[in-house]
Amino acid sequence: MAKRLDLKDVNIFYGRFHAVDNVTLSVAPRSVTAFIGPSGCGKSTVLRTLNRMHEVIPGARVEGEVLLDGENIYGSSVDPVGVRRTIGMVFQRPNPFPTMSIRDNVVAGLKLQGRKSRKELDEVAERALRGANLWNEVKDRLTKPGGGLSGGQQQRLCIARAIAVQPDVLLMDEPCSALDPISTLAIEDLIAELKTEYTIVIVTHNMQQAARVSDQTAFFNLRATGEPGRLVEIDDTPKMFSNPTQQATEDYISGRFG
Ligand SMILES: Nc1ncnc2c1ncn2[C@@H]1O[C@H](COP(=O)(O)OP(=O)(O)OP(=O)(O)O)[C@@H](O)[C@H]1O
Ligand SMILES: [Mg+2]
Repeated sequence: MAKRLDLKDVNIFYGRFHAVDNVTLSVAPRSVTAFIGPSGCGKSTVLRTLNRMHEVIPGARVEGEVLLDGENIYGSSVDPVGVRRTIGMVFQRPNPFPTMSIRDNVVAGLKLQGRKSRKELDEVAERALRGANLWNEVKDRLTKPGGGLSGGQQQRLCIARAIAVQPDVLLMDEPCSALDPISTLAIEDLIAELKTEYTIVIVTHNMQQAARVSDQTAFFNLRATGEPGRLVEIDDTPKMFSNPTQQATEDYISGRFG
């Protein structure tokens, strides 16, 4: 668990549109990296290339290398489904299976892998729900539908579902943007706990959140509409928010644009 990610000269396309230009960056195991930048600069696009979710879009392709502990996830012998299992993803809107029970939501991935033992699945469900700080709230209603939880609980359920398969990396695309401040803080606390076991990359529009939860921050930007997004700067989070190297970063974090 908790592997290192290295992107090398990654270029990302939607058909003929060059969406992201030449990104090189590294993410250490057991750390949180925040992606920030204005809308449309390619944060979600980069995130989706990290578990090969980008290529499911017709015409979409990726050039360059994404190395997971030194191994290219785009290697010719690599199975994309396996990649998505080892690099889990949590989306902006909580997306539990609404009519499926809370317990079955958590173990859905394991069932897909053919794991059937009821006892084992119960154990995994409990471990994942504890890991996602949701166990105490749902332990008496595990057979009730996932859709009956609050938004913040549903997002923690989705995190439980993602960690149930014991991924190496956890990707989160604006996981708190649909949540109230209390649920947001609950997720942020959870991220701080999860990073002891996982490598985490989070996209956020919330500067305070990036400053609170991440070890390093990557600022993406685009020169003009229609131009590809690019990585302007990546550095330790305290440095990025106090003394960034690039003027564009300074302008963005101080709210002068974006
Ligand atoms: N499925 C798609 N097909 C074609 N172009 C796309 C697709 N998804 C995104 N794009 C384009 O790629 C560029 C980057 O989009 P992306 O969603 O990665 O931005 P973002 O930084 O995540 O923005 P936001 O902060 O609004 O979520 C944009 O120009 C966008 O229009
Ligand atoms: Mg996005």
